[in-house]
Formats: sequence, structure tokens, C-alpha cells
Amino acid sequence: MSTLSTSLPGGTWTLGDLTVTRFGYGAMQLAGPGVMGPPADHDGALAVLREVADLGITHIDTAGAYGPRVTNLLIREALHPYAESLHIVTKVGATRDEHGGWPPARRPEDLRRAVRENLETLGLDVLDLVNLRLGDAQGPRPGSLAEPFETLVELQRQGLIRHLGVSNATAEQVAEARTIAPIVCVQNMYNLAYRHDDELIDELAEEGIAYVPFFPLGGFSPLQSSALSTVAARLDATPMSVALAWLLQRSPNILLIPGTSSLTHLRENVAGAGLSLSDEELAELDKIGR
Ligand SMILES: NC(=O)c1ccc[n+]([C@@H]2O[C@H](COP(=O)([O-])OP(=O)(O)OC[C@H]3O[C@@H](n4cnc5c(N)ncnc54)[C@H](OP(=O)(O)O)[C@@H]3O)[C@@H](O)[C@H]2O)c1
Repeated sequence: MSTLSTSLPGGTWTLGDLTVTRFGYGAMQLAGPGVMGPPADHDGALAVLREVADLGITHIDTAGAYGPRVTNLLIREALHPYAESLHIVTKVGATRDEHGGWPPARRPEDLRRAVRENLETLGLDVLDLVNLRLGDAQGPRPGSLAEPFETLVELQRQGLIRHLGVSNATAEQVAEARTIAPIVCVQNMYNLAYRHDDELIDELAEEGIAYVPFFPLGGFSPLQSSALSTVAARLDATPMSVALAWLLQRSPNILLIPGTSSLTHLRENVAGAGLSLSDEELAELDKIGR
């Protein structure tokens, strides 16, 4: 197992046999508007990715559907050949249509193609971690994941994938996946104001499985709450810093993948997430999403 010491807030976590910094980076915001097409500022996007690596972040989240292919190609251009310590996590199970929608693509042939495309665009022989993205743009949907998940297990057996996870999943689908094969993470929507998965997070923590919240800062509509602003003002911090610090303190199995296309925001987020929140502040913040 590789070891990694980091001065980044939150320290490290182990995904299977891969050590990552709990402070990671989500690449989705680097694609063009609506997560379609290339970024307006190509060199700026490369600079953000290089700064991610320079800051010592070793977990980058991406998907072939971002752009599509755009964020994978940017990651490759900025960082290939990759440092041994860097782990790129991707997702399969959704594609893009001409309107920018995210239709599901979970037939066995879709998943095999998506894994192959991720390998090609990222310039890798093996993908460190692949999440099966379930549900739709409105959120998780009930139903068995057996067929698509078993397809990924088959690709894992072929040596194309190291570890598996699920995304946009119900608690029942997480449980079903675990009866089929081990998973190392669940990537679902969760933040200070949206706390649907509170119970699941605690269960996964007991099992040593990571929980990776997407939209940690609210996603396309940034978090806004008077309680958050009040706590942030008292601490002389930004609301975003408080939101990230709260997630790190919420549970040790939470890994952060905040997205940004801005070098300034990236540096602010790294600096701010280490904020120590008192029990009183945590209780105040706890009321926002309950
Ligand atoms: N599994 C899934 O279905 C799924 C779905 C959505 C996302 N994801 C993953 O989750 C990652 C995180 O989600 P996300 O990027 O959509 O949402 P997010 O991290 O909650 O928020 C990103 C937004 O916050 C802004 N922001 C970041 N830092 C800021 C700061 N310090 N001050 C002010 N604004 C700031 C960004 O704008 P700027 O660019 O201007 O900084 C961007 O608009 C994605 O990158 C993606 O990898 C997964």
C-alpha cells in the first residue's frame, strides 16, 4: 500500500489500496457552459489542474460525459504522465444528447464502450476507480443495478478497473451492489443544506467505505443560508470555507471534490476547509439541513 503524508485539510483516506487526500478536486466545472464543449479559457483550465497537483491533491473526479470527453482530455494534457500518487476517479452510466441532457447509458455495450473511452481519453491502461452512475439528472431512482454493476465487475476482472463505486444511488442500490462485489465509495449529492444521506454516511463510515458528496458547495446554485453566512462572518471566513470544513468534520469517510474553474477559488477552498468549527458552530450549522 502506498503511504502519503499531506498538509492538506482532512489528511488522507484509503480507497481499497489507494491512498488519496480527503481534499480532492471535481473537474466537471472545467468543461464549457452546461458541461458541454471546451472551456472558454483552455490554458486557464490547464493551470487549475496543474495547481491541483502542485497543492498535493491526489484525488481528481471526472467523467467521460463531461464535455463529453473534454475534462478527461484536459486532465491528460495537463498532468500526463501522471504522478504515481495521483488517482483519477471516473464515472460511467450516462451519456450526453444534443440538448446537453444526460440520458442513461447502462447497457453492457454502453458500459464497455465508456470504460474503453475513459482509458483512451485519460491515457491509462487501468482506471483506478469507476463509479456506476445511476438514476437521472433529478436524482436517484429505485431499481436493481445488478446487470450494469455485473458488467463493471466483469471489466474489473479483465484488469481494466481497480476499484468500483456507485453514484446517484439509493441506499438499497448501495446494499445491492455490496452483495455483488466490494465497493470503495458512494458518490451522491450531499451538502450542508441537502442531507438526505445522513444515515447512509454513518453506515458507510462503519464499513470503511468513502462517501464523496457531489455538489458540496451547492453545485450550479451555490449554497445560500443566513445561518451559514452568520457563522462565516463570525469566523471571518467565507461561506464556502465553512461548508467544506463542515463536511470534513461531519464524518471521517467524507472526501471532498469541490469544483472550480478558478485558481483563486481553488486556493481559497484549500485554505478554508481546514477551519476548525466548534460544537456550538456545528450545532448552528446542523439546523440548516434538518
Ligand atoms: N456523480 C454525479 O452525478 C455528479 C453530479 C455533479 C457533479 N459531480 C462531481 O462533483 C464535483 C463537484 O460538484 P460541482 O463542481 O458541480 O459543484 P460544487 O463543487 O458544489 O460547486 C461548484 C461551483 O461553486 C463555485 N465555487 C467553487 N469554489 C468557490 C469559492 N471559493 N467561492 C465562490 N464560488 C466557488 C464554482 O464556480 P467557479 O468555477 O467560479 O469557482 C462552481 O460554480 C464535480 O466537479 C463533479 O466532478 C458528480
